[in-house]
Amino acid sequence: MAAEMALLKPISKFASTPGLAGPGAPSRPRFAAVRMSATAQPAAPKKPAKKANKQAIKETLLAPRFYTTDFDEMEQLFNTEINKNLNQDEFVALLQEFKTDYNQTHFVRNKEFKEAADKMQGPLRQIFVEFLERSCTAEFSGFLLYKELGRRLKKTNPVVAEIFSLMSRDEARHAGFLNKGLSDFNLALDLGFLTKARKYTFFKPKFIFYATYLSEKIGYWRYITIYRHLKENPEYQPYPIFKYFENWCQDENRHGDFFSALMKAQPQFLNDWKAKLWSRFFCLSVYVTMYLNDCQRTAFYEGIGLNTKEFDMHVIIETNRTTARIFPAVLDVENPEFKRKLDRMVEINTKLIAVGETEDIPLVKNLKRIPLIAALASELLAAYLMPPIESGSVDFAEFEPRLVY
Ligand SMILES: [Fe+2]
Ligand SMILES: [Fe+2]
Repeated sequence: MAAEMALLKPISKFASTPGLAGPGAPSRPRFAAVRMSATAQPAAPKKPAKKANKQAIKETLLAPRFYTTDFDEMEQLFNTEINKNLNQDEFVALLQEFKTDYNQTHFVRNKEFKEAADKMQGPLRQIFVEFLERSCTAEFSGFLLYKELGRRLKKTNPVVAEIFSLMSRDEARHAGFLNKGLSDFNLALDLGFLTKARKYTFFKPKFIFYATYLSEKIGYWRYITIYRHLKENPEYQPYPIFKYFENWCQDENRHGDFFSALMKAQPQFLNDWKAKLWSRFFCLSVYVTMYLNDCQRTAFYEGIGLNTKEFDMHVIIETNRTTARIFPAVLDVENPEFKRKLDRMVEINTKLIAVGETEDIPLVKNLKRIPLIAALASELLAAYLMPPIESGSVDFAEFEPRLVY
């Protein structure tokens, strides 16, 4: 997984996922442990983990989330005796692809990293740390979910289970690489702590498919767009991690293709009016989340020479075109009205943040928030109700994306 997903959630309950360990990039004694909200600061003597500042965890609607699902239903869905639509040959072929492990030797660091980090100062340094931290959390979220799915599906469908395990390998690598990046800033995300302390959002399996597919594909488009931009404009390259994005994003693309195959094997999630409504809902949710998040962090995108809104619209349009190959309906994001609605949501969100930062008492803050939340909800609803684009295909094979690995 690469992107942060889901501002909105159809069903939510919190559950913990026991027995999951971090991917091997824990905080080290010489670094300050970052719980969730890091600020670049000199290494301080590490406090015992339990007493560290838990209040630093910023749980907002837009923070990267951890997910859990109904694993029993997942087992049913991938039981080849129950589900005759499962094309095991396709999954075996995909498994071979994952076993090839194209990026086994890709994530090797060099001394440029630390030197670049030391040179980065001022506001860009702080916002850059936040970028590493949020990206690491999003990647780690994918690791946890895929690892558990790999474990739970072993008996029912060993091929699908092994693919999930190999995807969790990829995500652990991505999260670990980002966490090593944080170490260049004398910080580290305490992934073990995050595993235990964060709330998990529950999605039913079909929602996991929609949300995760979108998350992987939007992650692919974000990484490849940043990579291409910095390759053309190397003067904006502040830190070598972006040079790794070209191969890295192919992992995300493969993950997305696997979810595409999973959805094809569950046509009931793609072929009725409910599937169309949910498809549009998840597209809107993922696009709005990214747009609002990024518009709060324009300093980062401008710092690497991008125009935040142009970058986001490019990513949204490309992701939507890719998604139209599999989802039965998508949003008309290329209609200029869609962007106008997103921009109005940014304005409202900015006002909401400003209310949160005032000195008012909580009651007054909440009263001030009511009309703003109503306005945001109304914009969201209007965007959702815009005439959609019918998409997908009965003959999926013709629409299969052609990828260059
Ligand atoms: Fe990833
Ligand atoms: Fe991924």
